[in-house]
Amino acid sequence: MADHRRQFRAIKGTRDILPPDSALWNWFEQTARDLFESYNFRDIRTPAFEDTNLFARSVGEETDIVHKEMYSIGDSLSSNLSFARWMLSKSHETSVRTHDIQPFWKSVDSFLRACDEAFASEEIGRKGDDDVQCFEKIKAIRSEAGNDPENTEDAAREILSLANTIGLHGLMSLRPEATASVARAYIENGMQTLPGNVKLYYIGPMFRRERPQKGRYRQFYQIGAEVLGQSDAPAIDAEVLEMLVVFFKRVGLTRTTLYVNSIGCKECRPKYVEVLREKLREVKDQLGPDSQRRIDTNPLRVLDSKLPEEQAIIAKLPRISDHLCAECREHFAKLKEELNMRGIAYEENWRLVRGLDYYTRTTFEVTAEGLGSQNAVCGGGRYDGLVELLGGPPTKGIGFAIGSDRAILSIQEGGTLPHLSGLAVFVAWMGQAAYPTAVHITRKLREAGLAVELPAEEMKFKKSLGLADKLGARYALIIGEDEVAAGTFTLKRLADSEQKKLSEYELLEYLESERRGRG
Ligand code: HAM
Repeated sequence: MADHRRQFRAIKGTRDILPPDSALWNWFEQTARDLFESYNFRDIRTPAFEDTNLFARSVGEETDIVHKEMYSIGDSLSSNLSFARWMLSKSHETSVRTHDIQPFWKSVDSFLRACDEAFASEEIGRKGDDDVQCFEKIKAIRSEAGNDPENTEDAAREILSLANTIGLHGLMSLRPEATASVARAYIENGMQTLPGNVKLYYIGPMFRRERPQKGRYRQFYQIGAEVLGQSDAPAIDAEVLEMLVVFFKRVGLTRTTLYVNSIGCKECRPKYVEVLREKLREVKDQLGPDSQRRIDTNPLRVLDSKLPEEQAIIAKLPRISDHLCAECREHFAKLKEELNMRGIAYEENWRLVRGLDYYTRTTFEVTAEGLGSQNAVCGGGRYDGLVELLGGPPTKGIGFAIGSDRAILSIQEGGTLPHLSGLAVFVAWMGQAAYPTAVHITRKLREAGLAVELPAEEMKFKKSLGLADKLGARYALIIGEDEVAAGTFTLKRLADSEQKKLSEYELLEYLESERRGRG
């Protein structure tokens, strides 16, 4: 027999989250929702894909995330325009072969018509005017070349290259993270006019083309929170960190460490980066190729290196804490005071620079046990210039994202698993006369908030109870002809086989109080 499981498989780096694990995921996410809302954060849902430039500009073009790991959709054009473009290059080949340029001009005209339609439907030309400019240029070349048969070959080549870029100005990428999206949404929706700080949270999948391994996926899930507004008071940072620490405690992830650092602002950081770069140049020969390259592109990232042979060298490098400007030093000192006042345990880590370019001042990470090398379960920090960089008003910002896959893995591998209620009642009905009563009581129990399974077809008593057991039901509700005649129900607790005869009223009372007790 063919093995149907093998025909299609989830794409590398992606996976299914199945019951019963999905119940643990739901509980994990619901705990975040309840807690974050108690800190007055509110849910924001942004699209799963955005303009590629949004991520390039905010996360940074030189970062691994943007440079190597984004899933981008290169040609998002409709089949009409794609076909017209394909025809253009085919007819060019034919024209060169036959020395007859006429078919090429014909396909240029068709291509321009397809562009017109694509502009009309706003498929192209919305982002900047690059598409419009290319289009106008093709039109101009087309009309000039018609009058100047000498230059047709050059004109044709130029048209081909212009046509190839139309539509690519709107490159899209699956989001590798959501801070950039939240900042974009904040600007686009004029959220700076909302009263007070804007406190948002999100839950959803992110996409990075990383090498899959334990705790590292290509589609993974984050729970993030962001605070945007006019204030950069250290108390905001502290409250965000408090919320994070309380969350980890609430979900039973106790073996975690919070690391904090300050990486300065746009005044003091560039000066420190130069000092660091100078020092790195002196020890360049002792560094590996990645760090050598980073001396020029992003010297801070050298501090992130995990290479054992570089550790002793890095330990002797100049530290940012000695180069912070007075304001940044004070901000960091106040944050630490606040954390102490709130009883939040943390460790300072001067090497915590993070792999995204938008950070200023506070950066932090939480690691958990039982995860191997991918042990960061949360990362975050302040990003005071980001909204402005994306064209918005001067705005301060801070936030974090929890990696749910890793956090849940860590809970499963050593944390305290919650008791999730699962199936409460299996309705074991026998005889067609019992069926309407079974349907009726099932609906009532479900309305009372209980999870109930009602077999669609009549089953033998023994089989019925066997299935109830396998499904993990806590109770079997037995409804046979006797029960129907007496107007009662038999409720059997499956853990110890204790049985009760109850009226409908008593049954509902009993199960509801049992549910409240568990809740
Ligand atoms: P990040 O450090 O890139 O920060 O990601 C946050 C967390 O997402 C990581 O600590 C990790 O738990 C999880 N994560 C990242 N990549 C993967 C992966 N391939 N597989 C599984 N889990 C992964 C950010 O994304 C920032 N947007 C956080 C932030 C919000 N900063 C300010 N606001």
